[in-house]
Amino acid sequence: MAGNALVSSYNDNIRPLLDAVDRLRHLKVTQEGIQLPTIVVVGDQSSGKSSMLESLAGISLPRGQGICTRVPLVMRLQGDPDATKPLLHLEYRNKTVPTTEAGITAAINEATVEIAGAGKGISDAPITLVVKKKGVPDLTLVDLPGITRVPVQGQPEDIYEQISNIIMGYIAPKESIILNVLSATVDFPTCESIRMSQKVDQLGERTLAVVTKSDKAPEGLLEKVTVDDVRIGLGYVCVRNRVGDETYEQARAEEERLFKSHPLLSQIDKSMTGIPVLAQRLTQIQASIIAKCLPDIVKKVDGKLNRSMSELNGMPQKLSTVVDGLKAILHIIKVLRESLEKSLIKGEYDEFPDEKSLHGAARIYEMLASYSSKLPSNCPTTNDLFLMEEVSVLEEAKGIWLPNFLPRSAFHVLLKRKVGTISHKPHELINAVWAYVGNLTIQIMLRSRHFQNYPQIQSSSQRVVHNLMTKLNAKSYEFVKNMIEMEYCSDYTSNPDYMKRWAEFMTEERNFTEAIENHSKPTKVSLKAFGVVEVGHLRSHADIAEQAFDIRMRLTAYWKSIVLRLVDGVALHILHSIKSMVESELEAELINELVGTKMAGVEKMLEESPATATKRDRLKKSVELLRQSKDIVANIMDRIVVEGEK
Ligand SMILES: *[C@@H]1O[C@H](CO)[C@@H](O)[C@H](O)[C@H]1NC(C)=O
Ligand SMILES: *[C@@H]1O[C@H](CO)[C@@H](O)[C@H](O)[C@H]1NC(C)=O
Ligand SMILES: *[C@@H]1O[C@H](CO)[C@@H](O)[C@H](O)[C@H]1NC(C)=O
Ligand SMILES: *[C@@H]1O[C@H](CO)[C@@H](O)[C@H](O)[C@H]1NC(C)=O
Ligand SMILES: *[C@@H]1O[C@H](CO)[C@@H](O)[C@H](O)[C@H]1NC(C)=O
Repeated sequence: MAGNALVSSYNDNIRPLLDAVDRLRHLKVTQEGIQLPTIVVVGDQSSGKSSMLESLAGISLPRGQGICTRVPLVMRLQGDPDATKPLLHLEYRNKTVPTTEAGITAAINEATVEIAGAGKGISDAPITLVVKKKGVPDLTLVDLPGITRVPVQGQPEDIYEQISNIIMGYIAPKESIILNVLSATVDFPTCESIRMSQKVDQLGERTLAVVTKSDKAPEGLLEKVTVDDVRIGLGYVCVRNRVGDETYEQARAEEERLFKSHPLLSQIDKSMTGIPVLAQRLTQIQASIIAKCLPDIVKKVDGKLNRSMSELNGMPQKLSTVVDGLKAILHIIKVLRESLEKSLIKGEYDEFPDEKSLHGAARIYEMLASYSSKLPSNCPTTNDLFLMEEVSVLEEAKGIWLPNFLPRSAFHVLLKRKVGTISHKPHELINAVWAYVGNLTIQIMLRSRHFQNYPQIQSSSQRVVHNLMTKLNAKSYEFVKNMIEMEYCSDYTSNPDYMKRWAEFMTEERNFTEAIENHSKPTKVSLKAFGVVEVGHLRSHADIAEQAFDIRMRLTAYWKSIVLRLVDGVALHILHSIKSMVESELEAELINELVGTKMAGVEKMLEESPATATKRDRLKKSVELLRQSKDIVANIMDRIVVEGEK
């Protein structure tokens, strides 16, 4: 719709669109990463590029040795039927410099020297030349420095790289149309400008070729432009530039005559010859790329404006009073606490859906599960021979008393020994948990916009977290140590499971004793808790084998209660400690540190870091620029819609 409207009433409508794009260019929206539809002129040295531009604009451009164009030249041509004489001015470095047709060369040279220095260096900062003149097409073209392989005297060594970087910067965006200027006198595939444009536009979909110096090499030209072995998707236009001191009118007439009457050149289709055809092709292409790109530009400007605005709004307020500083600190702490509560206590991880290491509750559950699975589910023993550990302890517990009393001391020695084999495991768990919680707290802190906004409190806050974790780890260490000591101290459980299991085990005692006492029985006994066991070695300890069996069965039944206590107790302790850390301790420690005595910490908050100030400035500028751009494109889009509906 927009495209059709543009083409049909193109004369009235192209100017405002072009103005809008030119104003955007002037605003330098490309700095915000928004590319503008642009016709970019590239060509090798001596391709006749400047002459071609002169022919389009009907004015003379600077000529000289070496590079003529040392900076990008944005040429804005504006046809003005009422202009009695051409109006020209240059825009560069915030300046507008009026000039005349005769003074244009000097003015451009002066601007170039100001931008790129007096030598032969080049720069990518553009000069804009505005030409208002009767009979010129409404066109904006960017003329880039010609491509030279070999530096001439006074040029920097890396001139080729510098120029090709500038050119690539302009022709790479898909919004650019490449106007490739080729001299009829050379083999097109050997042109540097062709190689460059093919790098970014392989199929030539946005490349148009102008063949200059047609009169110098008419032989084979028809074939060159029809065979198209360098893939120029938008087609070729052959031209003849002005020679010597011809006026532009004379040159035009001469060109027309040439393509009409030259025996070879007259065979080239009229839609492919002459400056007027070129001008018309360019204005059409320009209208259609602008119409094609504008909606996208509107979207991009909108999106970037939104992003810059929300980033700017997210920037910290500049704090000026102690009360403001205090409020900011309290807010930061509150937000941190909420994030930690979600991650560690509620198990909600919507803030960091993809960062598994920040899903606190799940990771701590995993640590507990792994700890629990590492505790042996059966009572461990140090001797592979059945009951021999118990026998050797009982031997030492013998005394002058009736032999059928089960000595508690033996039971305790064994219990202590067995609990001892796992006593380091809860300590390992709490070390891992607090290291993880500390890590998590700092990670969440570093990701918080609020902390990012105040770099001045980051390191002290991290220190607070480290110290607090050390403190909490020490507390948990005490807790676990007590738990283990309680296990050492006594054997007790109210769990009815214990008695049930023990009684069950003891029903097998008869079979066991028989196997030991009756030497004609097999020495293997099948027991529920241990499977088939060899008991032959116990026949020489027949006096205490029964007690050993009993102790082992008690320990085995009791072990379950110990493991359960060590898992549940430590788990509850960890959950409780984390909860009180999140809900009160961290807050208290942070306030202590950040507010400090006499509000010393708050005062630090009032000093804004240079990085923050710079960022705020940059965002403000960006928002300002994008707002202006948005106004420009909004106006023009309204127009397009209205025109389209007509
Ligand atoms: C142009 O003006 C802007 C603001 O008015 C300024 O920030 C910028 O430095 C100026 N540029 C030059 C090259 O003087
Ligand atoms: C930008 O924000 C405005 C209003 O806040 C909204 O209407 C518009 O859709 C947003 N644009 C983009 C690209 O997000
Ligand atoms: C703490 O975080 C760092 C970096 O994310 C990581 O390399 C380290 O293993 C973590 N330590 C713990 C105990 O989670
Ligand atoms: C004792 O052993 C016999 C045979 O070996 C077996 O059938 C019986 O079930 C065992 N008794 C118990 C209580 O396990
Ligand atoms: C010893 O075991 C054998 C074989 O099982 C059995 O025949 C015998 O009666 C047992 N002796 C005693 C005294 O129980």
